[in-house]
Amino acid sequence: MNPFNSSFGRACLRGLHRSPFLYGVAKRIFSARGLLPPRAVHGIPGRVHRNDFMVSDPRHYAKTSKEHFETLSEELAFADREWSKIKSFIDFGCGYGRVTRWLPTVIPADRVTAFDVNPKAVRWCEREFGVRGLVGRPEIAGTPFGKYDALFACSVLTHLSERMVDVFLQNLPKILHPGGVAVFTGKALNSAKMARETSVHLVSEVVEDSLERDGFYFQAYPHYRIPDLGDTFFTPEWLAARLPQGLNLVRHRTGKFWTHDSYVVRLED
Ligand SMILES: C[S@@+](CC[C@H](N)C(=O)[O-])C[C@H]1O[C@@H](n2cnc3c(N)ncnc32)[C@H](O)[C@@H]1O
Repeated sequence: MNPFNSSFGRACLRGLHRSPFLYGVAKRIFSARGLLPPRAVHGIPGRVHRNDFMVSDPRHYAKTSKEHFETLSEELAFADREWSKIKSFIDFGCGYGRVTRWLPTVIPADRVTAFDVNPKAVRWCEREFGVRGLVGRPEIAGTPFGKYDALFACSVLTHLSERMVDVFLQNLPKILHPGGVAVFTGKALNSAKMARETSVHLVSEVVEDSLERDGFYFQAYPHYRIPDLGDTFFTPEWLAARLPQGLNLVRHRTGKFWTHDSYVVRLED
């Protein structure tokens, strides 16, 4: 059960979001849960780390974990990159492995790189799922990525400023092999409508107006002192226009990763 689903819980969360200091204290207290042993969750491979921030309700976590993996597999197959053809794969912004955990069920674990800017999350994925870990900096520059046949960034661009989305897109041609495929998630109008129920700091009308006018909206989290981290929305037209040369949008589908849209892009051969 998620304590923030009740109206009292949401009022507390709203209060915390107004103060970066109080939010920081609460986050430290909550992260002490990481001292508890990882738990098994029915229906998914591997255990779940107590600090996995994607868990609000374990059943929902298991559902999205499985569904996201299945949608990813579908998108790769659509782009002619079935798992049997993939020699190197990077889970970009892997977190504590909501999707990473499935990858060793379809390709050898040493073909999978779990990348994140959070070293604890990367080390967990290495230990628990046997994949290779790579810790990097948000700006990407200086991180020894290597090249990959396929990349997945789940719920990553949905939290980055316009500048950082550009950093990600501009670097894709350097990270992918020629003909390589990237699948990533994005939030658009649908997600903006859902924000009305789920967000404590977004005003969905403002998001919708900006999306219609500019094709893009970003709001930094009020509770963090990191200006490049927040809630990000963009339209497929905006995204397609931002792709660097050589990278083409091959498919966009609305709401395929829970509330997020699915984007598939391919680097020319
Ligand atoms: C919302 S979580 C999603 C985690 C995981 N992909 C999932 O779907 O469960 C976003 C992740 O992106 C990572 N992240 C944030 N900024 C990043 C950046 N510039 N480059 C790579 N990862 C980043 C965060 O550390 C976090 O683990």
